[in-house]
Amino acid sequence: MNDKKFYITTPIYYPSGKLHIGHAYCTVATDAMARYKRLCGYDVMFLTGTDEHGQKIEDKAREAGVTPQQFVDGIVAAPGGVLDLWKLMNISYDRFIRTTDGYHVAAIQKIFKAMYDKGDIYKGSYKGKYCKPCESFWTESQLVDGKCPDCGREVMDAEEEAYFFRASKYAGRVRELLLNTSFLEPKSRVHEMVNNFIDCEGGLQDLCVSRTSFTWGVPVDFDPGHVVYVWLDALFNYMTALGYQNDKYDDLDKFWPADAHFVGKEIVRFHAIYWPAFLMSMELPLPKKVYGHGWLNFNGDKMSKSKGNVVDPHLLSERYGVDALRFFLLRSFPFGSDGNFTNELLIQTINNDLANDLGNLVSRTTAMAEKYFGGALPEGRQSAELDDELIALASGLRGRYEEQMEKFQFQNALEEVFKVIQRANKYIDENAPWALAKDLEANGPRLAQVLYNLLEAVRVCTVLLTPFMPESCEKIFAQIGAGADARSWESAADWGVLSAAASVAKGENLFPRIDMAKELSELDAIMEEAKKAALPALEVEPFLEEQVDFDTFCKSDFRAVKVKACENVRKSDKLLKFTLDDGTGTDRQILSGIAKWYKPEELVGKTLVAIVNLPPRKMMGRDSQGMLISAVHTEQGEEVLHLLMVDDAIPAGAKLC
Ligand code: ME8
Repeated sequence: MNDKKFYITTPIYYPSGKLHIGHAYCTVATDAMARYKRLCGYDVMFLTGTDEHGQKIEDKAREAGVTPQQFVDGIVAAPGGVLDLWKLMNISYDRFIRTTDGYHVAAIQKIFKAMYDKGDIYKGSYKGKYCKPCESFWTESQLVDGKCPDCGREVMDAEEEAYFFRASKYAGRVRELLLNTSFLEPKSRVHEMVNNFIDCEGGLQDLCVSRTSFTWGVPVDFDPGHVVYVWLDALFNYMTALGYQNDKYDDLDKFWPADAHFVGKEIVRFHAIYWPAFLMSMELPLPKKVYGHGWLNFNGDKMSKSKGNVVDPHLLSERYGVDALRFFLLRSFPFGSDGNFTNELLIQTINNDLANDLGNLVSRTTAMAEKYFGGALPEGRQSAELDDELIALASGLRGRYEEQMEKFQFQNALEEVFKVIQRANKYIDENAPWALAKDLEANGPRLAQVLYNLLEAVRVCTVLLTPFMPESCEKIFAQIGAGADARSWESAADWGVLSAAASVAKGENLFPRIDMAKELSELDAIMEEAKKAALPALEVEPFLEEQVDFDTFCKSDFRAVKVKACENVRKSDKLLKFTLDDGTGTDRQILSGIAKWYKPEELVGKTLVAIVNLPPRKMMGRDSQGMLISAVHTEQGEEVLHLLMVDDAIPAGAKLC
């Protein structure tokens, strides 16, 4: 049995809209970590999922005219949704939790009840500000200029019955945990947490953990009307997904406590303060580490409104390849700090690191092995002093890489790998294999040694790049003829592992160079298109500039009319013939070009508006005494008409003015 175990999690995502490259950042980092640990021989559990409850989802579902469950299903499991994205990004998660999964919901109810029975959850009232139109409670500090932050309207004082978690009881223990252990990293986040939330005026406040103002949540089973606060529900996913308080899974003893929770910096507060406090309340072991990573900013803005950059991971990976995108995210930004994402930086990184450095090294090495030795290096080889530096650097690489990976410093780990790649490229120039190849008889053994050293350097680097670019590394291994033993973690610390009989074959160019100017202009064009597509489908006809004086306007006689009968006009697919009650006691006949949008029978009995003092005219040989008023608009280039229908309480003949 393997006693090396590793449990790592990403935050569970709100399925409230499209995920952008910033969301993929944390999941890619977690995936690289999980793959690294598997490479090192660990039994890994990598959990991710979706956080599906809460008012935000309820509101969005209402806007979309579907139930909250239909809404989240549409984002999580539908084509192009969260699951699809993780598949595309080659995310090797072991388990996926949805907080609407029945086993999780039942477990949360048990947890809530246990905390209540213990006295750590108590009933009180939540005092705050209430925005009636939005049906939302706010705290004083959430208001913007004293008004509702959502709609900008006036708010009123309000009180809502709610359950509270006694966070204050655990403040001292949480403070100790933060200050005296390495529970929360990077260290820079520790003081922010302690100063702002524990050592602040009034100390750590009890947390409101139930709501009654909406219903889309885990119901508090012993008090109908209350739903569990979304963060209490969400945080426990890390344990319910292992089988805590449920029979669905049975890995709790094996994997809990978690080795690492990777989370974005804005949710560190929930993970570093309330999560340990909840666990203390339930007398459960605490996770070993919470790591708060930085944000990817898009021109200084965290939001997905990318302001001039394509941020759709589907589109980016289609253009550059999934591995290039994964690599870029972890190579370009220190994990603990914010980074500024630009398409230019992405292309630059691909060109410099992947095309120039790694791609070039692999293609030059394999091409020369093929050209000079037909892909199989001869046995007799000749070492030289010139080899020492490269061999020493490559042989020590695994140790330096491991040191950085263990600290989640992906950028530094990759930097170490690229130092070796760059050194190997320099080694090619120093040894000029093409010059040695001019006299193969004399220089054959030396040339074979140079190429072998290069292949070994490529091999060691590729083993260590596998967690970042799994598919490309497979291809490189195939090109250099590395068997399973030459791909292992153990082999990355050894030199001379590739067998002499290995057959080398130059393959496809793994990372083609991108023409920066051309690419940026194509991306601009894509964004222009996207902007156009985002324009409202509805085109509003421009308002007339010419004014009409009041007296002229009043000359038009608009009346309410009731439809007594309506029928299609023979040989016309446009016209309907209306028999109307206009209040005079004599029927009025009007023909209207509305047949494309209405069936005659659905209009009988409706109250419409007609202008009745237009000169009578003949249409398809029939008299028309006036005109029915319609609203007209253009939708995706098509004209659409709606007859103006008014309240049926308005009597026939009533004048509109
Ligand atoms: O917070 N750069 O979900 P979420 C880096 N459901 N990270 C980013 C980012 C960006 N531009 N934008 C978003 C939630 N993220 C909760 C989590 S866990 C029990 C519950 C990160 O979908 C963000 O920091 O709003 C967070 O860690 C993650 O995406 C999910 O965000």
